[in-house]
Amino acid sequence: MPSTSSALERSPFLLAARGELSTHTPVWFMRQAGRALPEYRKVREGITMLESCTRPDLVVEITLQPVRRYGVDAAIFYSDIVLPLKAVGVDLDIKPGVGPVVASPVASFADLDAVRPVRPTDVAYVTESVQQLVSELGGTPLIGFAGAPFTVASYLVEGGPSKDHAKTKSLMHGNPKLWHALADRLADVAISYLSIQIEAGASAIQLFDSWAGALSPRDYAEFVQPHSAKVFAALEQYGVPRLHFGVNTGELLGLMSEAGADVIGVDWRVPLDEAVRRITAASGHPKPVQGNLDPALLTAGWPAIEPQIDRILTEAKSAPAHIFNLGHGVPPTADPDVLHRIVKAVHEKSAR
Ligand code: CP3
Repeated sequence: MPSTSSALERSPFLLAARGELSTHTPVWFMRQAGRALPEYRKVREGITMLESCTRPDLVVEITLQPVRRYGVDAAIFYSDIVLPLKAVGVDLDIKPGVGPVVASPVASFADLDAVRPVRPTDVAYVTESVQQLVSELGGTPLIGFAGAPFTVASYLVEGGPSKDHAKTKSLMHGNPKLWHALADRLADVAISYLSIQIEAGASAIQLFDSWAGALSPRDYAEFVQPHSAKVFAALEQYGVPRLHFGVNTGELLGLMSEAGADVIGVDWRVPLDEAVRRITAASGHPKPVQGNLDPALLTAGWPAIEPQIDRILTEAKSAPAHIFNLGHGVPPTADPDVLHRIVKAVHEKSAR
């Protein structure tokens, strides 16, 4: 009998994340835990999002739900990108249907005092949840995650979700010293929070820079890349695969790759073969890619979805390895049966 740890190391997800081919292309879905699942809505009844993240019984159950239901090749830790800020005392909430809302947006150096790295004692429930999950998941890897400095800064500066990130860009250009101080602190928050998850047993980590696509390449290079690069550099010592993802980042793929991740997530706007060309041009070598089915197609019917799966699997052949995913998160309107069918189809079509 192989030990759990060697089964884990040979799992299709971890092999692909290290650029190696295995028995099939692994699949997981960003936001696979959540409102598309009736069993999630049931467990969450009467409990706020942030409270649910602090209860290991709920975190473990919600993280496992999509693994059971869909047969995905990896679990993603149930939490939120603003949780570490909440844990160090930043006054914020997650409003249903809206997202994170911050009581006093960051506008001055004095406001930075509240933003400090998390200590294991601030988030004992994270360590406990990850340890329990790793033991229950056996050979299925657990992905830890954090928000990248830019995306988390946007919530702190705007005070809530924003379409244009105008206040954040205004701060970057109008007060670059304050911007860099904030982003540097948020890099330390991400490093501390991801280290805690890795030390508790997470097999890989993903840094979500969901809203980085709002930036020009020039602004990304100057104001964001050094801070995300600091996160990846600090985590290199652990030897776990580091994934990086953002939406609408076609023009940034090269720069995001240069920030140092091992796997680059791609949304649906850029075909994976073109993404590999951009990554290779920037980094000097190709990297495994993750993506990139448009989540809007989940409701389009199987005759529309299946050819897209075929196309994505074909385009991914130019990468050293591919992790199938959506181009962004599972929307609450998704039909769980369709997601399950996608997992089965990707496994069958990519079987080697
Ligand atoms: O299944 C998973 O992927 C793990 C759980 C997860 C959540 N948030 C749970 C959640 C992950 C990885 C996140 C990351 C996250 N949170 C990101 C990056 C990923 C992305 O979507 O780009 C971002 C930008 C956030 C901030 C955030 N939190 C938003 C925009 C929202 C949605 C607001 C809404 O209600 O539509 C949240 C809330 C949130 N995070 C929910 C879940 C399951 C929904 C809240 C609920 O169920 O009440």
